[in-house]
Amino acid sequence: MPATETETFHAEGFQRDLIGWFEENQRDLPWREDQDPYKVWVSEIMLQQTRVDTVIPYFQRFMSLFPTASDLAKAEEETVLKAWEGLGYYSRARNLHQAVKEVDEKYGGTVPNSKEGVHSLKGVGPYTAGAILSIAYGIPAPAVDGNVMRVLSRIFTVYDDISKAKTRKKFEEIIEDIISRENPSFFNQGLMELGALICTPTKPACLICPVQKHCKAREEGVQELLPVKAKKKPPKPLDMKAVVIEDDDGHVLIERRPDTGLLAKLWQFPNIEAESEDITDLETFIDQLDIEGEVTGPVQHVKHIFSHIVWEIDVFVLQASKAPDQFYEADAPLRFVRKEEVEWYPFPVSHQKIIKQNIKV
Ligand code: ADE
Repeated sequence: MPATETETFHAEGFQRDLIGWFEENQRDLPWREDQDPYKVWVSEIMLQQTRVDTVIPYFQRFMSLFPTASDLAKAEEETVLKAWEGLGYYSRARNLHQAVKEVDEKYGGTVPNSKEGVHSLKGVGPYTAGAILSIAYGIPAPAVDGNVMRVLSRIFTVYDDISKAKTRKKFEEIIEDIISRENPSFFNQGLMELGALICTPTKPACLICPVQKHCKAREEGVQELLPVKAKKKPPKPLDMKAVVIEDDDGHVLIERRPDTGLLAKLWQFPNIEAESEDITDLETFIDQLDIEGEVTGPVQHVKHIFSHIVWEIDVFVLQASKAPDQFYEADAPLRFVRKEEVEWYPFPVSHQKIIKQNIKV
């Protein structure tokens, strides 16, 4: 049954206007050079929550390091995380790596072209599945992300809250009704491109919009009231203290984050959640590590905003006069590494800033 929104909609005319515009106006982007499903997949994962301009150099470097799914499957996880360093949301990289290994083992390195096959891959949600199926395989599957919801909420004046999961389903049903069966790839990419270039969050460029005549919001003058999106809670501040501990032989102490949770498996400088205004909390922590030396600072303050928390890190330094031997073992999770080798390890952006200011090689 068609969605009620599309009953009187002129889908063929809309497809023609949208795809015609996309053919003429699409940006020249590296993942559009061919329809390799592996490249489509990697680009779509990178593009989640991340701007196109940011993604381009990462995508290019990633493709030169891991040109095929099998190359990525063979890589060490830490190498993959290093290539992702700075892109954020690192579970995307870990899931992609795991899923690509599955593709390599189960499908001989070819990304599956069925809904069930592609949906079952780790980290591949309905949006990414739809993007892979339509862009790489020409299958008419909806690919609904925030940008597409913005565009369609305006075209059909849908006032449902786009932060609710149910709303995405509604847009998927709408797309099932109106998607081009001849060219689902350009149809979906056209919607994405329209969201990026014309139908922007604020001040949409309706005057030059190729599908203006199909747009109900434009007709009613409500385009700037849509989409409806519930306000997120602001991220909570978390005060932290981090310490850069050096020994007398040119080593610095770094620590591997736990296997799960925020920034899993990335490396960082030892740190604590602040418990006191002064440095007694940090001194107690260093004492527990059995390291001797005087803490000084703060020498730097680093702020990093995640979707749910804000790290407020005061950075301290310490020249260690004594430290346990176990920190010098090659595979220790808390380990002294040569300062020149710090760059081999993947760090979150906040701790890269600490490296930049405090590690002189
Ligand atoms: N945003 C999400 N997917 C995209 C794509 N394939 N091209 C451009 N922007 C995008």
